[in-house]
Amino acid sequence: MFANRLLADRTIFLTGGGTGLGRSMALHFAELGARIFLFARREPPLRETAEEIRRRGGQAAYATGDVRHPEVVEAAVEAAWNAFGRVDTLVNNAAGNFLARTETLSANAFAAVVGIVLHGSFHCTQALGRRWIAAGTPGVVLNILTSYVETGSAYVVPSACAKAGVLAMTRSLAIEWAPYRIRFHAIAPGPFPTEGAWSRLMPTREFEERARNFHPLKRFGRHEELTHLAVYLLSPMAEYLNGECIILDGGLWLRGAGQFNALTELPAAVWQQLEAARKK
Ligand code: COA
Repeated sequence: MFANRLLADRTIFLTGGGTGLGRSMALHFAELGARIFLFARREPPLRETAEEIRRRGGQAAYATGDVRHPEVVEAAVEAAWNAFGRVDTLVNNAAGNFLARTETLSANAFAAVVGIVLHGSFHCTQALGRRWIAAGTPGVVLNILTSYVETGSAYVVPSACAKAGVLAMTRSLAIEWAPYRIRFHAIAPGPFPTEGAWSRLMPTREFEERARNFHPLKRFGRHEELTHLAVYLLSPMAEYLNGECIILDGGLWLRGAGQFNALTELPAAVWQQLEAARKK
């Protein structure tokens, strides 16, 4: 779909790239020639992803640390700069989430998720944005949100609040930093199976089956469906797109919205009866 080496002149700082969708994006970006700097808390998955990129002929480096701490983010951005000479692209992908009844949450549980998602995205965006502005060079920021970013969702209140905050930041900075040629994109993914998300957000097999059946396409997302969109957004083809959030969920959130959407379950025979009655 994309020209070989489409991202060849790019250096991408990607948070949380050791596992899940972050790993899939890192591998796809590297395959198209980008240099990848990964930043997350656990070393073994980062090492594995970086080794896999190098094994396939790409360039990758990483730093371990927690996005919640601005000084740690600053040091990681510095390390990325030293490793590759510059960074021109940021992907805020690191996240924290779990299912919980909100009345049972501790203050620290709320702070942990908001700290990773909202504060972490802010720290990374500011650390790179400051450098781009000082150097007078353009930049691209891609924020990975969630399909409930506009609606909120029961049982994931810290994540819903934090992701809504990142969307507000996306739209705000799209304008504020446009004069510096720094553009902002967001993808709001629906259900994409990953070990991290499934172990935290899919309580039982039966619930997974119900979720699949409720989906208009009767399936979950494939990682390449997200990574292709991410590549497009980072590429020069998307230079006129700024501050937009693309919901990538196969229509799942709309499925919950339309009053008569559940009628997709209505058997054809019932439709035929209704149509026959109308003709009488
Ligand atoms: N339900 C309710 N509270 C929870 C919880 C759960 N499932 N998991 C953690 N918490 C609470 C902890 O009890 C703690 O609060 P306390 O100090 O009042 O007891 C607080 O959250 C922080 O937990 P801790 O494990 O110390 O923090 P952490 O910073 O290491 O972990 C999380 C952050 C909680 C987001 C953890 O789930 C995590 O590391 N997630 C990373 C991966 C991830 O979530 N990816 C998203 C995939 S969709």
